[in-house]
Amino acid sequence: MRSADLVVAGCRELLTCAGPLPKRGRALGEVGLVENGWVASSKGVIVYAGNEDGFLAAIGPEPGAVTIDGRGMVGLPGFVDAHTHLPFAGDRAREFGLRIQGWTYQQLAERGMGIQTTVKATRAASLDDLVALSLKRLDRMLLAGTTTVEAKSGYGLNLEDEVKQLEALRDAAALHPVEIIPTFMGAHEIAPEYKDKREDYIRLLVETIVPEVGRLGLAEFFDIFCEPGVFSAEETRRLIEAAKAAGFKIKIHADEFVSQGGAELAAEVGAASAEHLIAITDEGIARLAASDTAAILLPGVSFFLMMAKRAPARRLIDAGAIVALATDFNPGSSHLYAMPFVLQLGVFTLGLKVEEAINACTANAAYAIGRHAMVGSLEVGKKMDLLLCDVPDHVSLAYEAGRNPVRTVIKGGKVVVEDGRRVAAR
Ligand code: NIG
Ligand code: FE
Repeated sequence: MRSADLVVAGCRELLTCAGPLPKRGRALGEVGLVENGWVASSKGVIVYAGNEDGFLAAIGPEPGAVTIDGRGMVGLPGFVDAHTHLPFAGDRAREFGLRIQGWTYQQLAERGMGIQTTVKATRAASLDDLVALSLKRLDRMLLAGTTTVEAKSGYGLNLEDEVKQLEALRDAAALHPVEIIPTFMGAHEIAPEYKDKREDYIRLLVETIVPEVGRLGLAEFFDIFCEPGVFSAEETRRLIEAAKAAGFKIKIHADEFVSQGGAELAAEVGAASAEHLIAITDEGIARLAASDTAAILLPGVSFFLMMAKRAPARRLIDAGAIVALATDFNPGSSHLYAMPFVLQLGVFTLGLKVEEAINACTANAAYAIGRHAMVGSLEVGKKMDLLLCDVPDHVSLAYEAGRNPVRTVIKGGKVVVEDGRRVAAR
């Protein structure tokens, strides 16, 4: 008998999302569904996930153990949001107004708006401002079921303000139950003061900023916007070399609008992930499928930028690529933070099956940020990060479109959302 201090009892459907990782092809559709599913944990670590008989045979709850009634609920792993730009200041509501009038995202960028607008606001913000903004957003994410989030800098574009963004992530993480995986994205755009001397900015990144941020140990990943007009494939290659030398793992914003071989490059350099991929080529699909680089699709971007073009999710899955979904939460191209909505967009706009979308928001998303040994599925030895959703079955996670069905969130064995409301961890 294993003892447990927390038991989630009798979920109408439990989706463990267990199985070999990452999930490719048909395996992406396997969610490990258990009817009348039970999960138990001890000190925040799962000691059992399965049916009632197995629970009764294996687990002895400690005196005083907390039991949560899962009856009538769908239980699943906490969502892993594998791509966000969390710690920014300001907003772009005015520019959104221009987009509604017909301006494109790229036209705004060419006129010094877009990312640069957020760079100005973020540079002007204090560390405390950024921590407070991040905490408020983390609360919203948590209420929608996100228990682990990747978060990028990239609105500082100089050493001091990039470090400030990363320190905001460090400080917010210490104050909030959502786990943050920090990414340094000083190569999000050419810094405004280097507009006409891009080579100088790239040299500054390679020689000074990348090594210094690496030395400070504030970020695990390095990310770069590999897109015509931002960083070319050759520049991306140079920057990645510098980032690897500084100890970073690699992510690439690749083929978002126009392909310049970003997906191919991601596979070639052994990146953890290639993200966006709206404009990925056939060759890019084949290279990703043959690699261990995850394809993080961000359906919020096509939605939020009102683009008909979408990432070819079905073709990526069928080719055998590792597909994950994420919000891309940012003020310009995807101002949305809720993973249930992303799951629904995955089904409604990318053609994923509901089960595929669930794995893409949990198990494969955890793989895409290198956390699959700890989170993303409900398996013995992993963290007790679990959601209870008041839907009649898992298909209704998508069918009840536009709704946040998350009622209970458990993070690391602590109840942090109860009845749809944030509660002090217990
Ligand atoms: O993932 N593509 C570049 N970066 C973000 C957008 C950032 C912004 O518009 O502020 C993205 O789409
Ligand atoms: Fe992004």
